[in-house]
Amino acid sequence: MIQQAMQALETVILDSVTSDVKTLHDASRHILEAGGKRVRPRLMLLSYLACGGTQIERVLPAAAAVELVHTASVVHDDINDHGVIRRGRPSVNALWGRTFALLTGDFLFTKVYELMAPYKDLNIVLSEATVALVEGETLQASAVKDNNFSRQVYYDIIARKTAALFRSAAHMGGDLAGADKTTVEALRLYGFNVGLAFQIVDDVLDLTADTEQLGKTSGIDIQQGRGYAVAYAVNGEAKGQAAVAEPSADPMTAIREKMLAGEAVKEGYAQANMLKQAAVASLDVLPASSYKDSLIELARLVVERDH
Ligand code: IPE
Ligand code: IPE
Ligand code: MG
Ligand code: MG
Repeated sequence: MIQQAMQALETVILDSVTSDVKTLHDASRHILEAGGKRVRPRLMLLSYLACGGTQIERVLPAAAAVELVHTASVVHDDINDHGVIRRGRPSVNALWGRTFALLTGDFLFTKVYELMAPYKDLNIVLSEATVALVEGETLQASAVKDNNFSRQVYYDIIARKTAALFRSAAHMGGDLAGADKTTVEALRLYGFNVGLAFQIVDDVLDLTADTEQLGKTSGIDIQQGRGYAVAYAVNGEAKGQAAVAEPSADPMTAIREKMLAGEAVKEGYAQANMLKQAAVASLDVLPASSYKDSLIELARLVVERDH
């Protein structure tokens, strides 16, 4: 069921981004056909199925909308972060340049209106998450600029830029299946905690994995003075050594960065695991089913993934 649904989702996604303006059409397909893990729509579809939903085609446009919000955000993110590889391909900005990457992201964000038109109040749920995402990216850029990337600031940033969209996906899945308020609230909490864990692991992988493994430009976070390791360095034992926020020129600084990163990696996984446990615990309200099991498995994979 979920496999078929995920396949059908691909068609809905690609059909939603047609345009007679060739650059928008080509650049959108370039980034969407590259795949990606599709973890947010999967989470939404599983939430729907775990709440007893049976008409999966009713959920697909909303699931596609969530994936488009996410994809638009990474297209824009690569402009800001100077990312040149995304989903194993040259990024949109690398191939078409910043201007067209900006417009492609705008195009994807705008297509979300069309996909969400039938969903009434759920538009508010997705728009709240999208606003949060933009706020998170903005707070992050401000924290780097002001050199105050503390742990508290870090959690506020990742709650908004990443966890809010996961939360909205879980919410919409449950709501569309007719779940009651308590269940939707539990799913929201599940999505939020999975999203936090997802971003912490993403930041750890940015340090520990290479570009080829990730399919996106790695090492960007430390270079740009942000991410889990930087928050760790600002607040942790190395208090006052926010110097990791500066790209390092001398080898000693580079070695120190590495050591900090080593501790940060351990702690990052500890945090991610705690968040995963919390996420799984909130699924207790759901009746036993293979879809509930898949939601538990998804939370595990978010922490244990290698890309
Ligand atoms: C990347 O998300 C951006 C973050 C929020 C960390 P994903 O890792 O889900 O990206 P794709 O969709 O699989 O490429
Ligand atoms: C997540 O931040 C990006 C968004 C939520 C838009 P990152 O900057 O860590 O994402 P990647 O690592 O480039 O995918
Ligand atoms: Mg980035
Ligand atoms: Mg990252």
